[in-house]
Amino acid sequence: MSPVVPALGLAEGDVRGVLEVAALAPSIHNSQPWRFALHADRIELHCDPTKQLHATDPESRELRLSCGAALLNMRLALQGLGIRPLVTLLPGREAEGALAVVRRGGRFTPTEQSRSLLKAVRSRRTNRHPFVDSEVPATHRQHLVRAAEQERAWLHVMATREEKVRLRELIGRAHQEQLADPRVQAELVGWTGNRADPGHGVPPGSAGPTPAPQDEWALRDFSPGTVIDRPSGKDYEPDPFVVVLCSFYDGTAAELQAGQALQRVLLTATALGLSASFLSQVVEVRRVREDLRRSLGGSLFPQTVLRLGFGSPVPATPRRPVEELVLEPCTTESGS
Ligand SMILES: Cc1cc2nc3c(=O)[nH]c(=O)nc-3n(C[C@H](O)[C@H](O)[C@H](O)COP(=O)(O)O)c2cc1C
Repeated sequence: MSPVVPALGLAEGDVRGVLEVAALAPSIHNSQPWRFALHADRIELHCDPTKQLHATDPESRELRLSCGAALLNMRLALQGLGIRPLVTLLPGREAEGALAVVRRGGRFTPTEQSRSLLKAVRSRRTNRHPFVDSEVPATHRQHLVRAAEQERAWLHVMATREEKVRLRELIGRAHQEQLADPRVQAELVGWTGNRADPGHGVPPGSAGPTPAPQDEWALRDFSPGTVIDRPSGKDYEPDPFVVVLCSFYDGTAAELQAGQALQRVLLTATALGLSASFLSQVVEVRRVREDLRRSLGGSLFPQTVLRLGFGSPVPATPRRPVEELVLEPCTTESGS
């Protein structure tokens, strides 16, 4: 735990605000695997390796997606303060160990889009409940596709019945593999329910209903061991709007970019009144992810899968206090 100090030419209160916004990003199992190093001329984004889900996310790919989502939030928060964020991904020796470093790149005049996305940061939630069975309008779809493109990623819309059936099967296969893996299940149990440490994880109020035999798409059960009822007649939409967020390259930088794209897509959806939930099992089991990649033509790298639609409000998940996110200052450095 370290105090929030002035950084990037901002007073302590503004730095705190920026970190609070960054930390509202989604993260795998609400693990919040991000840390920040505060310096006079920059803010560094680091990952917190103690938050890695070794069985569910053995390559830390989803940890980096989560950090990328926090980075987009940080960019939006700085834009809200009139600062154009200058981001270097994987800065190397200039910021040892950092996933990204953010500096001042001059003045930014907030736009309608930057304002609306920043506002959406506070209302975005993962919504695991059934959505209303009505189509996502074509203009909304275009906005979502463009949001991914803006962050140099690709949003593949599952358009045909065959594509969806194939994806559903792959998700089902990955889901079964994970159900049979006690380490994956232990991580799920560890990060859900009423935890002793209430700043992390997925509490029962955010879990969504317990999966039922009639559910065609295998949603992860965030209430293992307990039954969370669904109101009668409230089944999942039979033909959901599903997208696969892909990167053009493999590797750490592509994952950080995909994380930013993920968050821009989610915030765009929120601003359009759409809800979203994840179907990540298919990208967590290596062989199944490879099959998904092949089924998409073989040139893209699937990073995550989202179900989007019109949902009812759901509660916010908890977050750690900002002080827990700040790394100890480096004592050998002068002037920061
Ligand atoms: C990379 C990534 C993968 C995720 N995968 C799943 C998933 O498979 N199923 C699910 O219900 N939620 C998934 N989530 C959502 C997180 O559980 C959620 O972001 C976290 O609990 C915080 O809640 P919030 O999104 O409502 O703020 C994922 C989030 C991220 C960033």
